[in-house]
Amino acid sequence: MSQEGIPQLDGYSEDALDRAFAELEKEVDASALEATKRGTSDAVEEFRLLWLGRKQGRLKQVSEAWLKSAPVEARKSIGLRFNALKPRIESWLVWEGWTSTQPTLDAEAIDVTLPGTHRALGAEHPLIKTMHEMVAVFQRMGYSVGVGPEVETDYYNFESLNFPPGHPARDTQDTLVVANQDRKPLRDRLLMRTHTSPVQIRTMEQQPPPVRIVIRGKVHRNDAADATHSPIFHQIEGLCVDTNITFSDLKGTLDHAMKEFFGSSVKTRFFPSFFPFTEPSADVQISCPFCGGKGCRKCKYSGWIELLGCGMVDPAVFGFVQGKQPAYDPKKISGFAFGMGVDRIAMMKYGISDISLLYSGDARFLEQFA
Ligand code: DAH
Repeated sequence: MSQEGIPQLDGYSEDALDRAFAELEKEVDASALEATKRGTSDAVEEFRLLWLGRKQGRLKQVSEAWLKSAPVEARKSIGLRFNALKPRIESWLVWEGWTSTQPTLDAEAIDVTLPGTHRALGAEHPLIKTMHEMVAVFQRMGYSVGVGPEVETDYYNFESLNFPPGHPARDTQDTLVVANQDRKPLRDRLLMRTHTSPVQIRTMEQQPPPVRIVIRGKVHRNDAADATHSPIFHQIEGLCVDTNITFSDLKGTLDHAMKEFFGSSVKTRFFPSFFPFTEPSADVQISCPFCGGKGCRKCKYSGWIELLGCGMVDPAVFGFVQGKQPAYDPKKISGFAFGMGVDRIAMMKYGISDISLLYSGDARFLEQFA
């Protein structure tokens, strides 16, 4: 690529200017093609400097030699042609015909190979993730998802689940009640639901059997917060009602669900328990999925972890529903229900030792699950 000076101007007539600028254009194209043949980024940079270099560039020389010294009348004609020359040079610099190894073609051009501005993707909260996974296990068994309100009436949270007013089992569910409800009849008073079980009744009121639903959601209790207690936590509830549903169905369903969720080598065992809305009732333990039952910190060296409550739906519960759905006749149908705390399961699964971390909204904690 030649570095010698620019052509001489032999006058300021339109013809003379056309000739001079045509000559320059030819030189632009020739030097660009020469750089193309070399095909290196150095060649492109040399081409750029040759024409656009701030100190020695040929455009600069043209401006000095032709434009600045021109008589006033000729300046406009020269200026117009001069202004057309720069885009011609630049169009070579952004030309896509350079070999693919060419990096930047113009200092000001956008480098499309640079990574774009990324908005960090959110990650699923470990609690929500656990809940989704557990719900999915039941969905694969044909369960649909039920929902209900977090602010409940005394009737749905307690009475219809066979906790009569004054029943001692109410005391186990340290209830947060909504203020200024005293003038209402007890059954209509509002409270924060203490469990997801009221959705069992709400669902049965809406549809005749058969029912297979799984309910996930937030529940509230007046518990003092510590490493394992939070006034807000989450439950997953299940209800299955049909003809000929037996305790074996309950055992088979939960055993399968636990194996799906924790791994196929996990075993389950059932102990007698009490819930007002199931009879008989049971507490379910699973063999520790972390140590295989040998005993470790997570299972407090017992080899077993207590995970959920369950039982056969008490006929009295069907009695509460029958007013709205007569098909819930305890002589013709039967069912089972179960409920479990999600927070504990998530904490166990991810090795989280303090429940408050799940509610802190601290990005440094949450990022670890991204
Ligand atoms: N609602 C109970 C609780 O919060 C858990 C529970 C136990 C739910 C047994 C059920 C069940 O559906 O059958 O303590």
